[in-house]
Amino acid sequence: MAKTQQKETLTEEQKKKQIYDMVDNLVKKSHVALDEMANFTQEQVDKICEAVATAGEQNAYPLAKMAVEETKRGVVEDKTTKNMYASENIWNSLRHEKTVGVIDEDKELGLTKIAEPKGVIAGVTPVTNPTSTVIFKAMLALKTRNTIIFGFHPQAQKSCVETGKIIQAAAVAAGAPKDAIQWIEEPSLDATTDLMNNPGVQTILATGGPGMVKAAYSSGKPAIGVGPGNGPSYIEKSANIDRAVYDIVLSKTFDNGMVCASENSVVVDDEIYDKVVDEFKTWNCYFLNKEEIKKFEEHFIDPRRGTVAGPVAGKSAYEIAKLCGVDVPKNTKVIVAEYNGVGRKFPLSAEKLSPVFTLYRAKNHDDAFRICSELLDYGGRGHTAGLHSNDKKIIDEFAMKMDACRILVNSPAALGGIGDLYNNMLPSLTLGTGSYGANTFSHNIGAKDLLNIKTVAMRRDNMQWVKVPSKTYFEHNAANYLRHMPNVNRFFIVTDEGVADQGFADEITDIISKRRGQKEYEVFKAVTLDPNTDVIKDGVHRMNIFKPDVVIAIGGGSVMDAAKAMRLFYENPEMSFEEAYQKFLDIRKRVVRFPKINGVQLVCIPTTSGTGSEVSPIAIISDAKTGIKHTLCDYALTPDVSIVDDQFVQTLPKRLIAWSGFEALGHAIESYVSTMATDFTRGWSLEAIKTIFANLKKSYDGDLDARKQMHDAATIAGMAYSNAFLGLEHSIAHTVGSTFDIPSGVSDAIALPQVIRFNSKRPEKLAMWPHYSVYRAESDYADIARTIGLTGSSDDELVEKLVKKIIDLAESVGIKMAYKGYGVDKAEFDKKVDELAVEAYGDQNTVTNPTAPLISQIIQLMKDCYEGKGIVNNK
Ligand SMILES: NC(=O)c1ccc[n+]([C@@H]2O[C@H](COP(=O)([O-])OP(=O)(O)OC[C@H]3O[C@@H](n4cnc5c(N)ncnc54)[C@H](O)[C@@H]3O)[C@@H](O)[C@H]2O)c1
Repeated sequence: MAKTQQKETLTEEQKKKQIYDMVDNLVKKSHVALDEMANFTQEQVDKICEAVATAGEQNAYPLAKMAVEETKRGVVEDKTTKNMYASENIWNSLRHEKTVGVIDEDKELGLTKIAEPKGVIAGVTPVTNPTSTVIFKAMLALKTRNTIIFGFHPQAQKSCVETGKIIQAAAVAAGAPKDAIQWIEEPSLDATTDLMNNPGVQTILATGGPGMVKAAYSSGKPAIGVGPGNGPSYIEKSANIDRAVYDIVLSKTFDNGMVCASENSVVVDDEIYDKVVDEFKTWNCYFLNKEEIKKFEEHFIDPRRGTVAGPVAGKSAYEIAKLCGVDVPKNTKVIVAEYNGVGRKFPLSAEKLSPVFTLYRAKNHDDAFRICSELLDYGGRGHTAGLHSNDKKIIDEFAMKMDACRILVNSPAALGGIGDLYNNMLPSLTLGTGSYGANTFSHNIGAKDLLNIKTVAMRRDNMQWVKVPSKTYFEHNAANYLRHMPNVNRFFIVTDEGVADQGFADEITDIISKRRGQKEYEVFKAVTLDPNTDVIKDGVHRMNIFKPDVVIAIGGGSVMDAAKAMRLFYENPEMSFEEAYQKFLDIRKRVVRFPKINGVQLVCIPTTSGTGSEVSPIAIISDAKTGIKHTLCDYALTPDVSIVDDQFVQTLPKRLIAWSGFEALGHAIESYVSTMATDFTRGWSLEAIKTIFANLKKSYDGDLDARKQMHDAATIAGMAYSNAFLGLEHSIAHTVGSTFDIPSGVSDAIALPQVIRFNSKRPEKLAMWPHYSVYRAESDYADIARTIGLTGSSDDELVEKLVKKIIDLAESVGIKMAYKGYGVDKAEFDKKVDELAVEAYGDQNTVTNPTAPLISQIIQLMKDCYEGKGIVNNK
């Protein structure tokens, strides 16, 4: 008495403060319990939850009775079932779920998932399913080592407190801290709002009307709020009518229609409408006449809110009729209003939470879909839509078109929506309505939703690879392999005029002529220098007529690249040139997919010693329309067989020996320092580097054995860069070389020393590739220097000696070490250099450079290459 008096004398502000302090105290105690549970094992947690489930089950009836007495809504037997469901079905689904510590580990992927609680949860419960929701939410919280503070619906406070006490006692007896489950003793809107807004609360789990859910989301913290449903159910003409009606009557009478998933309207096809009505009547469903509908419209719905009137929800059909001034037989199960509109002007089309539904006659299934959609839009978006049908097409279409997160087929919606009873959905008393209903989740809420799941991701290098032609033949006269090559008899020989003039194509046709059995060949000599798409089209056209089973490319890089592209487009006419040259960061994850298997075999026989195209997955082709050179790169382009036969390079002109030799040297050095270099490729790179330094000048001077060595070295370097790829030297050499018509080997030679100096300084911007775990370019260059016999007391010194050695070699074979030495106009170069740098930055080779270059640095490097900075004047 004294306490009450004292309260009455408090000002509004003081009352508010008192409520705030009360809630804050609960939150503080909750945190103490949370800390205690932080070290609980899965076994401890499960023991507590099982105790809660057992207590819920044992008290299912008395709690249900108390709830009905207190709220004056619902059916004791059905509320008992709901309490049983919240204890038994929920625990059964949670029993084996891992919710503590490591819950998943994938050693292969190096990923571990660790479950941690979200923290203190504010649990808001409704009047419609009071005690069962308390059991459900408490169990979900405890299973996930969260603590929970409830704000019960004031109209169900007593029965919810009793539920709280029972499960709290059971949980504590099984080892839970006392304050793991708490509740607000004196409910009020202020108290619930304070609870949701208290900074010590980490997550809100709210079930209730739209106002409550909105308040939960407005708190600014993670909220799992689920709101109302206005679910329709459509009985389509192919349905089993008796079963559909049975389901709907069962659903609507279950706890007097208070499960939010229950049918609020039924839409029936015209053809079966009368039959359906008759069937409902056999179950004592009362059909309101027009006047009675009017009365219902006046009393059943609260005109201010447009939703079901407070006293109506959860009452029996008979009681509701009385409240609305309509006489119905006492044994009426469900009241039906035949209706034909949706929206505010048609009050009964709203959510009803009672054994009442509106019945719509649909002209056809499109009309039925329209009515169902309108009903969902009128307060039921995202919740539940039922369909009774045996027509698979209708079921699929309904599922696609309804904005509902639960599409229940041939089942009672109330008992279907909560899952586990009539289907295999997760059992839950909190049903997400997705973004349709302004909810975060669209599924039935479960334990996973109350966990913070941490992912421990171990560093993983991507799997690396080595891919080369399945066969490489070498040594003098290796071309004789063609005499015996199996399973081919239609040879399409690709070459160019220059190579044909050397008699090399004839050499090949001679060998083919000596094959036993059937053989046909055609020689295509129209490849040009740096071939373009017109040449490729021409070749594909010839191939379409000739229909080869093998393509033999004999020539330099231009011929081999052309042959690779011809085979690609001959076999894949649907692939466009633009698709084929798309770039990638990781060839395995590229957007454009290349074919995996080639029907036509490709044999490449190089007649220059440099490009490595005979083993590479690359073809460089110009666009005939724009003149731009594009790099096509995919392992689908790799030749099946390469033949490295030095008979074809014995008469190679000196300048070609020098240029292609430097192309090979560029390949070998860049592949050695590339971010994708591996122990498998570095051996090839070093072997090629050693051989080139030892033989290029001799080969240039006419030594035939040196030419053979150079020929092999170029292919070996090709194998290295086909798998390790290249770097910035090639990006610069490609762009500048093709713009100013400088032979690519020359362009490589000029850029190589500049890029080595650049890469051997600690980078400003670091290269990104998990396999490239530490910066190592400088020591890699020093390794190269040592391999070719240079000595020095530091990496720095060795790198500089390597640079000098490269310059000396280039000059010894007649290469001038600056772009200005090749007639490139200074003004023209300056005009284009910015654009060229951007192009080089985007070049595929830049991706694997050991230093990630800035565009400004590329500009500077290009300018240095133009002047031959630190090279030409230094000499
Ligand atoms: N696909 C790749 O992996 C790759 C790599 C680097 C370069 N490339 C490309 O290769 C092309 C350059 O190739 P290349 O340097 O081999 O030159 P090339 O194929 O363009 O041939 C140049 C000239 O040399 C002639 N020739 C070739 N072999 C000869 C021989 N043994 N004796 C006399 N003359 C001969 C040709 O008839 C031609 O006129 C460029 O288009 C370049 O883009 C491709």
